[in-house]
Amino acid sequence: MYNEPMLRENALLGKCIIITGGGTGLGKSIAKYCGELGAHVIIASRKADVLEATVNELHEKTKAPFFPVVCDVRNYEEVDALLRKSIEKFGRVDALLNNAAGNFVMPTERLSHRAFDAVIDIVLRGTCNCSLALGKYWIENKLPGVILNVVTTYAFTGSAYVVPSAAAKGGVLALTRSLAAEWGRKNIRVNAIAPGPFPTEGAWSRLFPPVVQEAVDPMKRIPVGRFGDHQELANLAAYLLSDFSAYVNGEVMVIDGGEWVHGAGQFTGLEAVPDELWDMWEKMRKK
Ligand code: HXC
Ligand code: NAP
Repeated sequence: MYNEPMLRENALLGKCIIITGGGTGLGKSIAKYCGELGAHVIIASRKADVLEATVNELHEKTKAPFFPVVCDVRNYEEVDALLRKSIEKFGRVDALLNNAAGNFVMPTERLSHRAFDAVIDIVLRGTCNCSLALGKYWIENKLPGVILNVVTTYAFTGSAYVVPSAAAKGGVLALTRSLAAEWGRKNIRVNAIAPGPFPTEGAWSRLFPPVVQEAVDPMKRIPVGRFGDHQELANLAAYLLSDFSAYVNGEVMVIDGGEWVHGAGQFTGLEAVPDELWDMWEKMRKK
């Protein structure tokens, strides 16, 4: 495991970054690292108590300024208010990490249409709302901007049993590439990261409940034989939010230990063939 911080000191000095869903899980880990690199970080989600606790914890650990804003990304007015409050607090906003999400595993025919809405509204509508509000602000004020979207590898493969999430993340990936093409000339870069499994309370409690754990071992699907470490993801996110990635636009970067290509290859299942069988086969072939 390589979990050293990657970027040089002050690599994000003075940058103001909004992180949706930054009170927990991966958003919180990325927020922490951005703070360590000198950024001013606004964390936004629905639960005031969670945000407050995270801000206190991260400030204690990093001494950087963190600012909590209660905001439901499904609601454009709340997103607009998030932007206004962030500008009032720090003077401007330089970057947006669309990280907030909702998800659960279930056979699709068992879902109600409201269950579909719940996930699509957070993931796709929420990302659209935040990207539109920030994009308008940057363009009207002739400011540069960076958007980084958190998708996942099934944004391009699709996936059974998480169909609302797969549809929403696929939409976010299309949004990423489309806006990169349209807004690049306005000095706004738009990229995505596609993580494989990184243990978080939010994802694990919803995606790997006991019924799933009994049926599948997620570790078996990962060629490098382990889950991701939060710092590894934070390194990639911080790079894509920083000016070091100034020439990266419209890209989706996978960080999954090879999980999705393992699942995609037609012959990957041959790893079940033991060495003795390969030896036998080789002997027969030589004969
Ligand atoms: C089936 C469910 C359900 C479940 C809720 N619903 N949970 N259906 N299985 N587990 C249905 C409800 O019955 C309801 O429909 C509808 O969805 C809305 O439910 P609410 O509870 O009102 O929704 P809401 O309060 O908006 O909550 C959204 C949520 C919740 C998605 C359901 O879990 C949430 O807030 N999650 C945020 C955090 C999260 O999910 N993190 C994980 C991200 S991990 P009816 O018809 O009954 O009214 C991730 C990883 C990807 O994305 C890749 C991993 C490798
Ligand atoms: P998590 O801790 O559950 O994070 C989800 C966050 O979204 C929570 O902080 C939640 O906060 C926020 N949120 C949900 N609905 C919201 C809304 N309507 N408005 C504003 N905020 C909202 O899960 P995680 O594992 O860290 O996931 C973070 C991101 O990584 C997600 O985009 C997820 O799809 C992606 N991802 C995770 C994994 C993994 O293995 N963990 C793999 C691939 C991709 P509130 O409840 O306070 O609103």
